[in-house]
Amino acid sequence: MFELLKEQPADKILMLMQAFREDPRETKIDLGVGVYKDANGNTPVMRAVKAAEKLWWEQETTKAYTGLAGDPAYAEAMIDLVLGDAVPRAAVSAAATPGGTGACRQGFDLVRMANPAARVWVSDPTWPNHLSILKHMGMERVDYRYFDEETRGVDFDGMMADLAGVKAGDVVLVHGCCHNPTGANLNLAQWRELVALLNAKGAIPMVDIAYQGFGDGLDEDAAGVRLIASSVPECIIAASCSKNFGIYRERTGLLMTVAQDTAKQKLNQGTLNYLNRQNYSFPPDHGARLVTLVLNDPGLRADWAAELEEVRLSMLGLREQLASELQRLSGSDRFGFIAQHRGMFSRLGATPEQVARLRDEHAIYMVGDSRLNIAGLNKTTVPILARAIVDVGI
Ligand code: LMR
Repeated sequence: MFELLKEQPADKILMLMQAFREDPRETKIDLGVGVYKDANGNTPVMRAVKAAEKLWWEQETTKAYTGLAGDPAYAEAMIDLVLGDAVPRAAVSAAATPGGTGACRQGFDLVRMANPAARVWVSDPTWPNHLSILKHMGMERVDYRYFDEETRGVDFDGMMADLAGVKAGDVVLVHGCCHNPTGANLNLAQWRELVALLNAKGAIPMVDIAYQGFGDGLDEDAAGVRLIASSVPECIIAASCSKNFGIYRERTGLLMTVAQDTAKQKLNQGTLNYLNRQNYSFPPDHGARLVTLVLNDPGLRADWAAELEEVRLSMLGLREQLASELQRLSGSDRFGFIAQHRGMFSRLGATPEQVARLRDEHAIYMVGDSRLNIAGLNKTTVPILARAIVDVGI
């Protein structure tokens, strides 16, 4: 049987991680995978998370199963973090998932169960794993324009023109904030226009929010998802705690559905529970437990929010430094977009050849579409990157 298997394409981001590890050059700089790094290149465990782990070690009395949707206290805390008071609690169903990827996968599964004819619209470009999962599941996907290669901002006119083609029942996947891979995001007026279009068409938004707190702040980054949740009849939300709690390997995510018709809440909850049971039974608990402890303890929560804010501001500082260094070296403002983008990533708009030259000649690793992880930089490496960018003629 195994001889019938076909070789699967390797994930580009994970391949890059491996190539970086194998590069013996001491000066190498990793701007690949979306993992936060401090100025020393470390990905520390956040203070509040460490404290919660200690607390939990002392408090935990059993490793017996939780519920199929995970611990309800985790869902409550995360619904509050993501949605605030945008919708009545009775409108929301939620299940813990293994990471944000698990939430996306379960969300697509839910779409396929509810409406096998639904097409899923995705931004061009989007996180490559969205495409890979949809393909693996055999779901129909349609791309909509998103990134303006000239301005390196959102091609909002193109996006709206393409989305005018959605049919009732189609699902439109959007990034809640800190668009991955481009770093270009909608403003609130654009979110409003998008919501009006989706409502007019009867399409269902699905929001992937994996970087809340990395862009403009915890509430600011949730403004789009909250607007959607409060203004459409139904939506799906996939949230991740990997980045904003720094618990990547603990696999901590949440899939939510919002239905203004609260009579659907029970059915939706049952479906989320069912999907968890089919795919992995009980979701992992450790990361979810840490998040719950942090969010529900005022002291830990304040410390976590303060550390997250330091992370956010350090990335903003690096963006500004890189944009001004490039302005100085190139004598032009064409890199100003780097300071405008938000989140961990920016798409430089370089050719694959230029990206390869950065890697081969300068030991600088970024994804082939020229997505760079800002958090992979520090004050010393910013000028090195800026010189390399100018050297390869970007
Ligand atoms: C990324 O985009 O680099 C991260 O979300 C990590 C991943 O799983 O791809």
